[in-house]
Amino acid sequence: MNKVVLAYSGGLDTSVAVAWLREQFGVEVVTLTVDLGGGSLRQGVEARAISAGASRAYVVDARERFVTDFVWPHLQANAVYQGAYPLATALARPLIAQLLVEVAKREGADAVAHGCTGKGNDQVRFDVATHALDPGLEVVAPMRVGMGLTRDQEIDYAAERGIEIPITKASPYSIDVNLWGRSCETGVLEDPWVTPPADAYEWTVAPSDAPDPIDVLIEFEGGIPVGLDGERIPPVELVERLHTLGGTHGVGRIDHVEDRLVGIKSREIYETPAATILHAAHRALEGLTLSRDTLRFNRFVADELARLIYDGLWFSALSRDLRAYVASSQRVVSGEIRVRLDHGSAIVVGRRSPLSLYDKSLATYDEGDAFDHASAVGFIEIFGLPLRVEAARHGAVGKHHGAAWAWTDPLLADLPTTVTDPKPAAV
Ligand code: ARG
Repeated sequence: MNKVVLAYSGGLDTSVAVAWLREQFGVEVVTLTVDLGGGSLRQGVEARAISAGASRAYVVDARERFVTDFVWPHLQANAVYQGAYPLATALARPLIAQLLVEVAKREGADAVAHGCTGKGNDQVRFDVATHALDPGLEVVAPMRVGMGLTRDQEIDYAAERGIEIPITKASPYSIDVNLWGRSCETGVLEDPWVTPPADAYEWTVAPSDAPDPIDVLIEFEGGIPVGLDGERIPPVELVERLHTLGGTHGVGRIDHVEDRLVGIKSREIYETPAATILHAAHRALEGLTLSRDTLRFNRFVADELARLIYDGLWFSALSRDLRAYVASSQRVVSGEIRVRLDHGSAIVVGRRSPLSLYDKSLATYDEGDAFDHASAVGFIEIFGLPLRVEAARHGAVGKHHGAAWAWTDPLLADLPTTVTDPKPAAV
């Protein structure tokens, strides 16, 4: 190992890692900082990297790429991990890995490095994505191979070497941010029974403190959000605007115990105002424009894709092929959704689309009903046929299999029941 490209956040851990890698392995260290929005880029990272001994410091603004190539495909798929986590951290990893590999090539480096610990998902995501893109690169994670310093030790280590450290107060949590979400774990949150303290949240006000509800109108084309309140808006700005709106209204707080890939359950607090609003809106628009069969099938795809993204398998063939299916299914998911932001909730209150499958003349209970009620009888006759045959042949299934009761056992005697007869006419 001669030259390493380190994924560098600009924080204390990775600043120390620059020096640690040089001293431990005698290697040249190039840093790569990827700006993914949400406040992920810290002021003065380049100077800090150089002060820590980096031979070169790259800073890349990848915000738009992140949204168009990673966030939108996951939104189109409704890929939410375990029904709760919109995958902000997980989605960023393959993009950072891709950039690490590219910088390594450009710099003639033979290794890449990251600041993940040996207990989390992120190490797996970086390692497998890197090796999928370039199996020849070595991946080093200082935290896994001996750089286990406490915060105070890191501060001393940096001071001894004249490494500039970011001026941040020690956070009681481990935090990862990008424009799609903020992930917060450890500290008091490790007790899943503890209510998250107010300081676990940074992007959202407490829902009870939110101002009066407002409606926001979101326009989609092919499953991708393209406008707000009648104005066309580029991807990064659109996410940022919803982030601010949602945060102001307390939308997007998630308190979740999730299953890490390495087999550990972990308690995580997420703040995802834009993701919460856009997922609700996108699902509602699919409900209007996709057939019942497509919706049902897409739920399996969503689950599978969420798992693949969470597990770091973005670059797998299955992930690519499922994304291709999803992209194709989105060709009719165009239209407008009105979402009400109301004290922490984002509720869809209106939807319309030129490609809508909703037919008022079929749905209405008022005048103008075009549905043929009489033909329902024939439909039900055929639809219910297998159930009638089964019930006739197998009878009260429970009884034959030794169950204590069967669907045909009398219930009336056991349930409070009143019976009313007309009063006998007076004679
Ligand atoms: N549990 C989430 C994931 O695996 C977020 C982890 C982010 N890291 C953090 N320090 N909070 O994607």
